[in-house]
Amino acid sequence: MKKLLLAATMVAMLSACADKAKMQANLDIVPKPNVMELAEQCNQFNINTKTVIVSDNEESKFNAEYLQSYLKNIINGDFVVLKAAEKDFICLEICEDIEGDEEYVLQVDNKHISIKARTQAGLFYGIQTLLQMLPAEVFDKCNSLKIDELSIPAMNVCDAPRFRYRGMHLDVSRTFFDAEYMYKFIDALSHYKINNLHWHLADDQGWRVEIKKYPLLTEIGAWRGAEERLKPAYGSGNERNGGFYTQEEIKSIVKYAADRNINIIPEIDLPGHSKAFAVCYPEIICDIHNDYYSVQHEINNVWCIGREENYAILEDIIKEMAELFPSKIFHIGGDEVNMDCWMECPRCQLLMKEKGMTDVIELQNYFVRRLEAILAKYGKTMAGWDEIIDDGELLPESVVYAWASLDRGMKSVKGGHPTVMLIGEYLYFDMKQSADERGLKWAGITPLEKTYSFDPVGTFELNEEETKLVLGPQGGAWAECFQVKDYVDYQVFPKLLALSEIGWTNRELRCWDDFQNRLFNAQYARMYAMDLKFRIAPAEVSYEDGKIVAIKDNDILTIRYTDDKTAPTLESPIYNEPITTETPENYRFATFFKDRSSIARGPQNIELHHYMKPETKVESNLPFRGDINLLVDYDLETYVFTDRDVRAGDYVKFTFDEPVECHSIGMCTGYYTLAVYGILNGYIEYSYDGENYIQGERFAYDMFDGYKAYCYPEKPVKSVRIVADGICEHELTAIQDLRIE
Ligand code: ACM
Ligand code: ZN
Repeated sequence: MKKLLLAATMVAMLSACADKAKMQANLDIVPKPNVMELAEQCNQFNINTKTVIVSDNEESKFNAEYLQSYLKNIINGDFVVLKAAEKDFICLEICEDIEGDEEYVLQVDNKHISIKARTQAGLFYGIQTLLQMLPAEVFDKCNSLKIDELSIPAMNVCDAPRFRYRGMHLDVSRTFFDAEYMYKFIDALSHYKINNLHWHLADDQGWRVEIKKYPLLTEIGAWRGAEERLKPAYGSGNERNGGFYTQEEIKSIVKYAADRNINIIPEIDLPGHSKAFAVCYPEIICDIHNDYYSVQHEINNVWCIGREENYAILEDIIKEMAELFPSKIFHIGGDEVNMDCWMECPRCQLLMKEKGMTDVIELQNYFVRRLEAILAKYGKTMAGWDEIIDDGELLPESVVYAWASLDRGMKSVKGGHPTVMLIGEYLYFDMKQSADERGLKWAGITPLEKTYSFDPVGTFELNEEETKLVLGPQGGAWAECFQVKDYVDYQVFPKLLALSEIGWTNRELRCWDDFQNRLFNAQYARMYAMDLKFRIAPAEVSYEDGKIVAIKDNDILTIRYTDDKTAPTLESPIYNEPITTETPENYRFATFFKDRSSIARGPQNIELHHYMKPETKVESNLPFRGDINLLVDYDLETYVFTDRDVRAGDYVKFTFDEPVECHSIGMCTGYYTLAVYGILNGYIEYSYDGENYIQGERFAYDMFDGYKAYCYPEKPVKSVRIVADGICEHELTAIQDLRIE
């Protein structure tokens, strides 16, 4: 055997070897196996209708049937499972000599394929590596075009993960993802050897887990809408929106994940982020008049620390959840608590006095320690966001999820805690991936390459003990901007593949160019077959010397364009060479992979809109938190928040010093480039004389621009108003500048 590390070299060798095969194996595997050696002789194993699966261990039944069902997706054959066979078999073998919990050895010669591991997890990962060698359609459960034979070159793979924890987080509170989506998500995670799913089940905008003793949590706390106690948020609209998982559903999802070596870690975010709980059981918060806003502008969402009954409630909930989730780790949040209410609350103050505390932050530590103790009673280890290390001592085994920075993660490690690294600037997958894409950007704009560059240890020098405390990396999928459901796939994939490799593959084998090649050569097709609405890399587009140049990342992509500002479709012309034009702002380019396209974008180095900036006065009946005149500086990023919720009858009026001649006037509400805190019910209207108004569009949700409304005047316009005629989604609303063209 000869050790070869570059996938490209292996593919070249394969082509030479596998000339007899109907189909060749693909070795562009993610995560990259740590040792993969091709045999020197041109030997191969042919998987075909004669192939059987051999498994003599009753415990391997799931893995054997799993392999069988995936093989049947792509190759004609029954792949019966037998206890033994002489030849033409794929065997799954438990082997005590293999050391690592998730390690596997995959060997291929001309008689058989063998997958050996000490555990079922190891066998499962050997199967994943084998499946990735097959055509992408192996992952398409509805595939009807099957092949007769496929050859796998003789080889030897010895593979084990670098980190024992490889996690993915999903926030199902801000957006509810139903059980069907969870199964699909778990499938995708498991194909990429992710072994923990951190399920963010409760936050301000929804409680998602059925608790028999507190039924209001799901009768009331799982729903948002104009008529619900939780108001619409993040584009969820006026209609009743939300959902929850029954305990039976949770048991099925947990089992489904466990079969695929994924441990589900439940999170209920405490003591802040608890509005969904508090609207059902208001007695749990401090009994004071409260206008202390959290960073996400929520009030009345923090548990009272001094109310002893609260600990009994929390124990009831943990008790029910501990039975649903076998996970040793149980996550209690602990992030972003506005503790000011505790300063005013007589119960909290009394507790501080009794315990001799001098700062309210000690109350948070007191709360977290009580949770540690309750969890220990049910056999669980507490986990929390990295804020919990600031409040005081914790049990050493309590697990810290570092999100603010790698330095914070290292502080936790040096403090002796097992630590998961999901550092926002690299691994929060809700961040924008480029300047003209949707998403948040408080942790920065995070392209795939930046995510791939992350290392959970960074450049820190750690001793052996400390190294063990770095459990591994995790991706974060916060769902504020995921109301358009396909958007979760867009943000998470292919970033999850980068995460997978960070967690699995040894650092010295990681190489961005090589990863990108595997992504395009194989993984796009695999994600497509998995029915993931993943992000297709958009073209880089620029305008210089009178020409537009569009550059794609790989030849498997096709660039199409339009010259009328509309998004290109499969019918649009293909871009082959630079386009000479004097109106570059009218062009839009998109890359296509099969029938799916990237976002459409114009040249990135020019202004695509020529918004007018007329002298304007602004007035409103609403109170504002900032200077209302920021609405007429015509800088789109300087939006202003109202200081209360927007209701029917509220208006903002813009009056131009001189009537403005234009073809359109638009207003986007909500954060700039993010659809939150917008006007749900209302419209734009315009006036030629400043007195009589003509109604334009109603505000409607737009994936990129938030809640927007346009009007198209036919004469010079004197004034424009935006008018609300129903409730809006939040305690406050963001208004932007007019867009006049
Ligand atoms: C967090 O992002 N607040 C954990
Ligand atoms: Zn209190």
